[in-house]
Amino acid sequence: MFDIRVMTMADYDAVIDLMKGTPGVSLRDADSRESTSKYLERNPGLSFVAEDGGVLCGCIMSGHDGRRGYLQHLVVLPRYRRQGIANALVERCLSSLEKLGILKCHLDVFKTNTAAANYWHSQGWQLRTDIDRYSFTRSNNENA
Ligand SMILES: CC(C)(COP(=O)(O)OP(=O)(O)OC[C@H]1O[C@@H](n2cnc3c(N)ncnc32)[C@H](O)[C@@H]1OP(=O)(O)O)[C@@H](O)C(=O)NCCC(=O)NCCS
Repeated sequence: MFDIRVMTMADYDAVIDLMKGTPGVSLRDADSRESTSKYLERNPGLSFVAEDGGVLCGCIMSGHDGRRGYLQHLVVLPRYRRQGIANALVERCLSSLEKLGILKCHLDVFKTNTAAANYWHSQGWQLRTDIDRYSFTRSNNENA
């Protein structure tokens, strides 16, 4: 049985390893140790890991801008999938955000990641067809 607990910087290396080994998940400079530390400080108690007997088998990060919540980096180790770990991680984020008054959340999925799309759709998340997301990078670094 797995446990869900708040992610700390002590989990950083294991979380990055988990993401690196997962197709469909991208890592950016914004996922550096320093940036992740700032993110966790800015969004305390809103990112979680799943553990099973010392194995970090899942993770998710979330935060908010005071108005909407944002989920990212939901990953479950392949051999732990279809045991409800992702749902438990998402629920912890949504309930923690709700306690802060954040009732609506967004997330990004690569158009090529159909398995993730199927997961979110199966859980009642609505694919937005009414908006396009625009991004602007204030840096020459395409991996910012
Ligand atoms: C998507 C992912 C996080 C799901 O993790 P998980 O722990 O297996 O999900 P859960 O066990 O909580 O699934 C709950 C329900 O979601 C649905 N579901 C889960 N994975 C699914 C998939 N690949 N396709 C369709 N539905 C899926 C099922 O209804 C499942 O219930 P069931 O097992 O009783 O049928 C996992 O497959 C993963 O890590 N994928 C790679 C990383 C990734 O793409 N992350 C998303 C980035 S946006």
